[in-house]
Amino acid sequence: NAKEGSTACAADISGGSLELFSPAKVNLFLRIIRRRPDGYHDLASLFHTVAFGDKLVLEVLPEDAEQDQLECNLPGVPTDDSNLVIRALKLFREKSGVQRYFSVKLEKEIPAQAGMGGGSSNAAAAFFGANKLCGSPATPQDLIDWTDDPVIGSDATFFLSEGTAYCTGRGEIITPVEQLPIKDGLSVYLVKPNWGLSTGKVFQAMDLSALSTADPEELLQTFKDKGTSHSSWVNDLEKPAFKVSPELCELKDFLAGEWDFEAVLMSGSGSTIFCLGDPKGGAEAFEAATKKDFDIEGIWRTEFMRRASPTEWYTKAS
Ligand code: C5P
Repeated sequence: NAKEGSTACAADISGGSLELFSPAKVNLFLRIIRRRPDGYHDLASLFHTVAFGDKLVLEVLPEDAEQDQLECNLPGVPTDDSNLVIRALKLFREKSGVQRYFSVKLEKEIPAQAGMGGGSSNAAAAFFGANKLCGSPATPQDLIDWTDDPVIGSDATFFLSEGTAYCTGRGEIITPVEQLPIKDGLSVYLVKPNWGLSTGKVFQAMDLSALSTADPEELLQTFKDKGTSHSSWVNDLEKPAFKVSPELCELKDFLAGEWDFEAVLMSGSGSTIFCLGDPKGGAEAFEAATKKDFDIEGIWRTEFMRRASPTEWYTKAS
């Protein structure tokens, strides 16, 4: 109940600041199921957090503040209400009844339009942090339920899960998945070209008659049984993304070539391609060759995060 939450919260606001680690995600598989009457698509995807992400420092502003404040280290990032962090704080006030404003300092590492859920992760972190700073008027399940609003993006709810989840609907219906049998220390290389892809444009370019036919429940079972050691790698958004950006297809072919990775797949709607394992010939040679042949924004080596509650990973600022 929003009104009761508001009263409880007003007494509990602790002040101080909270430093949050806001991780990126990759999609281990992504199947598109159908186009919906509301214009979105039902999908079925296995989402997984990786230990690469942004930092948010969140503070409650004094009671007389009249708006949220957002500062970002990157000049190109909008700090008005087109930023999902600002939308998340507004949604938190609406849902909880808590009429307080916040200041957020955002240090971005996750590139934009990358298919790694950066904006949604920041929104979920802000939602989580605002709740904590206000004495937790919402339970973890409330936070999951309250983020079921397209205004903060379809991926935000996932970032309130335990980091490994089977996501359906627009992506906002999350089913927790136990720790996958992935070997510790497995390298995940995130390769982000110097151009991004708009999620909306990639969905628009999709030919619904040319989707893969793999059964998502079977894919999920394969990942549960075998971790990443198999060859069932599918992302239905690759084809339309490659239609929008033929260079991305060339980049994927290059990455899937001589380097002997365990798997190479586009994440989400792109434009990041992730590669699992270590490249033959070593990381330095791999990075140099990739950057020589392609216009690359960044290559980051990271690992899958172990399954944990958001309380643990948000507050484990790296
Ligand atoms: O949810 P998000 O804001 O990231 O989505 C951006 C756009 O991508 C949506 O406006 C919609 O066109 C498309 N989309 C979709 N089906 C989804 C998620 C996104 O069609 N499940």
